[in-house]
Amino acid sequence: MNILILGGGGREHALAWAVIQNPKCDKLIVSPGNAGIAKIADCATMDIEDSAVVIEFAQAEAIDFVIIGPEAPLAAGVSDDLRSAGFLVFGPSRAASQLEASKAFTKEICDAANAPTAGYGHFTDAQAAKDYIRTNGAPIVVKADGLAAGKGVVVAMDEAEALEAVDYMFGGAFGDAGAEVVIEEFMDGEEASFFVLCDGENVLPIGTAQDHKRVGEGDTGPNTGGMGAYSPAPVLTDAIADRALNEIVKPCMAEMVKRGTPYQGVLYAGLMIKDGVPRLVEYNVRFGDPECQVLMMRLGGQALDLLQAAAEERLADTKVNWADDHALTVVMAANGYPGSYAKGSVINGLDGCADDSFNVVFHAGTTKNDGAITATGGRVLNVTARGATLAEAHKRAYDMVDAIDWPDGFYRKDIGWRAL
Ligand code: AMP
Ligand code: GLY
Repeated sequence: MNILILGGGGREHALAWAVIQNPKCDKLIVSPGNAGIAKIADCATMDIEDSAVVIEFAQAEAIDFVIIGPEAPLAAGVSDDLRSAGFLVFGPSRAASQLEASKAFTKEICDAANAPTAGYGHFTDAQAAKDYIRTNGAPIVVKADGLAAGKGVVVAMDEAEALEAVDYMFGGAFGDAGAEVVIEEFMDGEEASFFVLCDGENVLPIGTAQDHKRVGEGDTGPNTGGMGAYSPAPVLTDAIADRALNEIVKPCMAEMVKRGTPYQGVLYAGLMIKDGVPRLVEYNVRFGDPECQVLMMRLGGQALDLLQAAAEERLADTKVNWADDHALTVVMAANGYPGSYAKGSVINGLDGCADDSFNVVFHAGTTKNDGAITATGGRVLNVTARGATLAEAHKRAYDMVDAIDWPDGFYRKDIGWRAL
């Protein structure tokens, strides 16, 4: 099978790492890829949000299966166009991707499916939004409706902050993404991520994870894309995961079928758990990054069979081969991230890191320059390990971190603290 993966972050390195372990994989190309991916697959540069470009490339390379990593090509309809051109694709349609691309849409689906989530209102004018905030009081959460690269959410602890967020969003800070604003009840509890594969009709859970969104130790400082993650998430017990599956995910997927827009791909449900009860915070229509890294570390080569079964609508008779193991990833980021940071610093010591089925350094923002690996992004490396216990995975990951010599980067020393 010839496979094309779209994307070039740590998530796609992890997907590529899992896919090539499966004997079914004859050829793998990743676009755009990165320096780590280039060691295990061919990389190609193209505009992955332009369907015509991707289709032409996939035809020329005799690709059998396209796996779409990030949300942007999904929201642009690349999966629909590839399917129309006859390709087998892993990733939801443009219409189904609304579950991430529009928060108001997701709320509407939850209402119709009777899925537990925060109470809300949605607004297209500032005055009505402010009235709603004054009526409901703080804490309260203000969200830009559309895709805002993870920055469109303000968890306001007082009313003034919430009112200011409304002005900021309607003021055009997020462009079209902020033309509509969702205001939500603040939910207290512990967050965890629940990952399922969907084939339109059927839903198959493939793992749980927790990440560390804040840049600083002790979960302090500004939000990031994620400074580390681990799987499984102890807070998502089997009983709570069952509730999330039966009360939230399955009814929402059934609602998507009812609307004629069945969901196919991975669905990442962000949950808030309080007193054993899960409520939905948000859906993402892709794997989390860095959550994918810990999931792939645990699934290994079977990941390709699972993704293919989702794309071929065969999940009803597909099973996950679970190992009773744990994985943890530590993100190494460029000094300054999530603010501004310099590009081009050299990373040494990677050759001193173990590289096997228990230890992998997944690359995110890296490139190769004159033989040296250099940093090109904010989040740069995902140092990932697996073990019989979370403590074992933790030790292995930090042993690798210690071997890496990158004075221009930093990492959190407390990934997994809550679970350890
Ligand atoms: P979102 O982009 O919707 O996932 O929001 C980003 C983050 O904001 C979430 O991961 C939560 O930590 C927080 N958040 C979002 N909605 C709520 C809510 N209704 N109550 C409490 N925290 C929230
Ligand atoms: N790590 C969070 C995300 O991928 O959205």
